[in-house]
Amino acid sequence: MLDRLNRLEKEALSALGKASSQADLDNIRAKYLGRKGELADIMKSLGSLSPEKRPSVGSEANRIKQTLEKAYKKRLEYIKNQPKTAEQKETRKRIKPTDITLPGRKPFVGRRHVLRAMLDEIVEIFHGMGFSVAQGPDVDTAYNNFDALNTPPNHPSRDIGDTFYIAGFGPDDTDALLLRTHTSPVQIRVMKSQEPPVRIIAPGRCYRKDTIDATHYISFWQVEGLYVDHDVTIADLKGVLTAFAKELLGSETEIRFRPHFFPFTEPSVEYDFTCICGGKGCRICKGTGWIEISGAGMVDPEVFREVGYDPDIWRGYAFGMGVERIAMIRHGIDDIRHFYTNDLRFLEQF
Ligand code: DAH
Repeated sequence: MLDRLNRLEKEALSALGKASSQADLDNIRAKYLGRKGELADIMKSLGSLSPEKRPSVGSEANRIKQTLEKAYKKRLEYIKNQPKTAEQKETRKRIKPTDITLPGRKPFVGRRHVLRAMLDEIVEIFHGMGFSVAQGPDVDTAYNNFDALNTPPNHPSRDIGDTFYIAGFGPDDTDALLLRTHTSPVQIRVMKSQEPPVRIIAPGRCYRKDTIDATHYISFWQVEGLYVDHDVTIADLKGVLTAFAKELLGSETEIRFRPHFFPFTEPSVEYDFTCICGGKGCRICKGTGWIEISGAGMVDPEVFREVGYDPDIWRGYAFGMGVERIAMIRHGIDDIRHFYTNDLRFLEQF
């Protein structure tokens, strides 16, 4: 009878260990441990044993009963813990024990965006030359963005096809709200809120309805500069921009002025920096050796009058510069769109 018991224990344990559902488990339990099960059967025949054998076989049967009950519970627990949905199975797969012998993965370290870093550097250089930072809103009035800057109502840059209007639009609508097309309106805000002398830069985002290509984007960064004092000349302007260019791009860098027109400066210039190729001509500068940075000039007396500065007493220069352009020469980037596509393969290089 002991043999029969031992065989039963082995068989039942193996069946329980293989059960894959609770129903399976319950069937196995009924088969071996149930009231009409095999163990009960053996117990019933205990009476036919001699009184000496009865206790040992009885206690063995009890031990087996307990062992099987335990195995049943353990397997039930296991079955309940099995992932059921596809998602749970997927998760279970993923959290396989870690193989600590595999080489480690480098954590990704975040950093400033290449444009933000460029902007910070530009601000730092002007800061060193005594300029403080002024700011204005991205949404400004047509008055600040155009009228106060001596830009007439019929000027092409005011066209609805060139400028993003937010509210109102019309040649005479000075209250119209728009996304500023340049940082020059910050000049107006600063001069209207403080007495001269003024020495500020204004970094900020600008918006234009340009067709996007390698050198144009609908939104871009500019840094505006404004210096107003008694004896300011265009030589000061050239001096400051030259010092800036050399500090930023190296002492070999030259700067060149080309005559231009802006409604808010007289005279006006566009200015270029030597390209990173050193002026020899390359893909970035399209063989010219120069990169156009933006415009500058002496503040037009009309602008001074508009903000309440006496043009007979005060002189000033102003400039704007395109931050993307500067970053492009600095890093040899040939397409402005790279800055805005958020492709890590590009961003991680800087
Ligand atoms: N606002 C001009 C532009 O976006 C650039 C500019 C030209 C700024 C002359 C100035 C300036 O301050 O004096 O094209």
